[in-house]
Amino acid sequence: MLKITANTSKVYDILIGSNLIKDCGKYISEVVNPCKAMIVTDSNVGPLYADAVKEALCSAGFDVYIHTFEAGEKNKNIETVYNITLSLAENGFNRKDIVVALGGGVCGDMAGFASSIYMRGIRFIQVSTSILSDIDSSVGGKTGCDLPVGKNLIGAFHQPELVVIDTNVLTTLPKHFYNDGMGEAIKYGVIAPSDLMDKICDDIDIEQLIFECVDIKRKVVENDEKEQGERKLLNFGHTLGHAIEKYYNFDKYTHGEAVAIGMCMISDAAFANGYCDKTVGDKIRIACKRFSLPTECDAPIEELSKIALSDKKSTSSGIDFVLPRTVGKCEIVNIKKEDILPFLKKGIK
Ligand SMILES: NC(=O)c1ccc[n+]([C@@H]2O[C@H](COP(=O)([O-])OP(=O)(O)OC[C@H]3O[C@@H](n4cnc5c(N)ncnc54)[C@H](O)[C@@H]3O)[C@@H](O)[C@H]2O)c1
Ligand SMILES: [Zn+2]
Repeated sequence: MLKITANTSKVYDILIGSNLIKDCGKYISEVVNPCKAMIVTDSNVGPLYADAVKEALCSAGFDVYIHTFEAGEKNKNIETVYNITLSLAENGFNRKDIVVALGGGVCGDMAGFASSIYMRGIRFIQVSTSILSDIDSSVGGKTGCDLPVGKNLIGAFHQPELVVIDTNVLTTLPKHFYNDGMGEAIKYGVIAPSDLMDKICDDIDIEQLIFECVDIKRKVVENDEKEQGERKLLNFGHTLGHAIEKYYNFDKYTHGEAVAIGMCMISDAAFANGYCDKTVGDKIRIACKRFSLPTECDAPIEELSKIALSDKKSTSSGIDFVLPRTVGKCEIVNIKKEDILPFLKKGIK
């Protein structure tokens, strides 16, 4: 088992290894005294793993309940969050009790958010089951849900007590979502100095890959928990990625796919505007293709730039874009509103 300790406003461990679910009750009881535990899971993951988590928690002395919601981003809304809090209240949960998020990023974001608002905050544990949540969403404390007008518009920073990443459960993760998560792994390969990008393009030891990605995220989050500066690096490929998701009404491309296209587009623009050489975009494309991720789309750049400007991260002074200098080093550059379209257009052949 590999272990990383995150030193944020709360100090917590991230455990990575195979078959960890079987003993997760023991790991959880090392950070939380036995109490009531609400397993929050979705309709795909619950039937596969909720019983095993329940058994592990029961044998460690926890009084276990299960709340299951319908899987999918379309259910990442306030109604689902409300139902989680209602379930906690109806089962007599108080501030001493815990929530155990069992699932991917959708589950972790909502179970974490529900925990942050129920009784003004109760503790929660992440038992992560998708690549995306293993390497990204389960660590760092961003929780929330979508509004009909946009993604992740409500939420809170709420750090977990522990993150358990069981690599065995990835065997049941649909291939499509596996590849999707690898889009975020490629992002880490571009923003931080390491040989991650070569590893991604080579034979992957998944446990090691998750470890390296989480460790990059840990460092970034420790330096900038509330995203005032450095944490913005994690948005590489995301400004355009989010615009692409929105342009297609969240129907055509999943998050990782849209981010893959966004990373290629912004790297081409960075090259065309003299920030990096062409090999950066080339390398990203090779890595994306390895995981069947798209590298371009037919959305007009004028529309994408308009959507990006209406995003919650755009300010009156423009947008902070994450631009690659080389593979392994990026820079946050504020581009003024009026300069954004010409900047992006230059990257389009
Ligand atoms: N909080 C953050 O910092 C952060 C960072 C990145 C992304 N996110 C959020 O994460 C979400 C995407 O996460 P995701 O891709 O994990 O989505 P997800 O939770 O919807 O999981 C993807 C699909 O795989 C299924 N699944 C998950 N694990 C499985 C397993 N082991 N076996 C079988 N099926 C499994 C789920 O039921 C779902 O159908 C988005 O909502 C995004 O906004 C949050
Ligand atoms: Zn992302």
